[in-house]
Amino acid sequence: MKKILFGIIIALTMTTTASAAENVKATIHADKAGAKINREIYGQFSEHLGSCIYGGLWVGENSQIPNIQGYRKDVFEALKALKIPVMRWPGGCFADDYHWMDGIGPKDKRPSLRNNNWGGTIEDNSFGTHEFLNLCEMLDCEPYISGNVGSGTVKEMAQWVEYMTSDGDTPMARLRRQNGRDKAWKVKYFGIGNEAWGCGGNMTPEYYSDEFRKFNTYLRDQGKNRLYRIASGASDYDYNWTKVLMENIGNRMQGISLHYYTCSGWDGPKGSATKFDTDQYYWALGKCLEIEEVIQKHKAIMDEKDPKNQIGLLVDEWGTWWDEEPGTISGHLYQQNALRDAFVAALSLNVFHKYTDRVKMANIAQVVNVLQSMILTDQEGTGHMVLTPTYHVFEMYTPFQEATYLPIDLPTETIQVSKAYFKEKEEAKDAGYRPCPLLSASAAKTTDGSIVLAITNVSLDKDQTIDFNIDGYQAKQATGRILTAINVADFNDFQHPNVVVPTVFKDAKLKKGVLTVKVPAKSVVVLNVK
Ligand code: AHR
Repeated sequence: MKKILFGIIIALTMTTTASAAENVKATIHADKAGAKINREIYGQFSEHLGSCIYGGLWVGENSQIPNIQGYRKDVFEALKALKIPVMRWPGGCFADDYHWMDGIGPKDKRPSLRNNNWGGTIEDNSFGTHEFLNLCEMLDCEPYISGNVGSGTVKEMAQWVEYMTSDGDTPMARLRRQNGRDKAWKVKYFGIGNEAWGCGGNMTPEYYSDEFRKFNTYLRDQGKNRLYRIASGASDYDYNWTKVLMENIGNRMQGISLHYYTCSGWDGPKGSATKFDTDQYYWALGKCLEIEEVIQKHKAIMDEKDPKNQIGLLVDEWGTWWDEEPGTISGHLYQQNALRDAFVAALSLNVFHKYTDRVKMANIAQVVNVLQSMILTDQEGTGHMVLTPTYHVFEMYTPFQEATYLPIDLPTETIQVSKAYFKEKEEAKDAGYRPCPLLSASAAKTTDGSIVLAITNVSLDKDQTIDFNIDGYQAKQATGRILTAINVADFNDFQHPNVVVPTVFKDAKLKKGVLTVKVPAKSVVVLNVK
């Protein structure tokens, strides 16, 4: 019935070179190694939004919930296993409303704030600069600070940099010492504003470029600390934004951001995270994969102005954006996470690997309890925590961090998904179809010399057997894990935390150097080949 209402929206295109009965023939080019995969592609994003910080990362020292100096113990330990390379904070939109001085000093003296962007929630500022930077040290990850351009001053931002990174006898370093931290922190990544075209000040790219240049002038590198200065970049298809910033800011910035969400549009319902039909399923995967074309187009603009790849493209917000879970606080963006989300994670990471020469960082939105999160904590405060299918993909993919990209040829059937299905604002004008390949893969040579190979089969019903030739590598053994479930809408919750969890994979065989892998429908397989 639905299909009749919307017209025929999905057509299957057979682009495979093999017939259904034959094994798919693929090649991993270990002899044509590409660039090192920046581990920062596995970055996270933690905003003062809903229960990402309060109740997610932070419960405070006096909480009944087990904690390490105020950080939730179970969440901290789960995040440690992900080897997070970089974490962005405090926003998002929140960043351009945040005044860092309210979040330092004795906790009982810190003023509370109203979170204007996200539900008007009152926050007590007990999580501030010290709490964030200390957490990064404990997780052994680089902090990425988003500074306030929209409602802040140049002086405020310059003082923040001095407070965090000066080891000299300077006013802000003295203030930091008074607040209990002697040594400066190392802060590399610094964002000069966020979504300057929207919640960060509703600026034009020309005006923002001038703002960037002005703020940037006063962000002084302190001692040996060197800031990697990140401009607030485009959303999705706004190529003009990138062009103007490349022209007007140029190499005053080391990075320019890009935000791309798998979202059906900004007005009205976005669809349930766990109740969706076949058309919505494939639509989401097609939309997620379109990030490749979006990256290519921003990259082409950057390549023209910066042929030596000195400026990084940082996808510092990405992931799925569904309706909030029924019964949760409006504006808190608390959503469930199904096997479908795990596929969005795997497919997006595969794309980032491919463009690692330009894509220097990516930060999935967000780490706990918000949008496509790694972890969900119980909103009633009972202390329950659950790892999402997306968490498991990130954990299974950790061997890709710092591994060397290997190209793959993999023929596949492709489903064409209508762009207009959800009447997206941007695409409605040029309705057409997005391709959604059923099979996707990514390979890399790890730091220990083995090969990591990730294969995703998003088909709802068709298992696929793939013969991989590995050019330039003698493989003797393949072991790995699989993430799958009975339905693509399956998810983990507090009562059933292990519905979608990785298990040992036994269907990879090596014969005369050919690796044959039987990849079931609806699954992500990650192998270690040596
Ligand atoms: O991640 C949620 C929000 O999405 C961020 O605050 C903002 O930058 C983006 O619009």
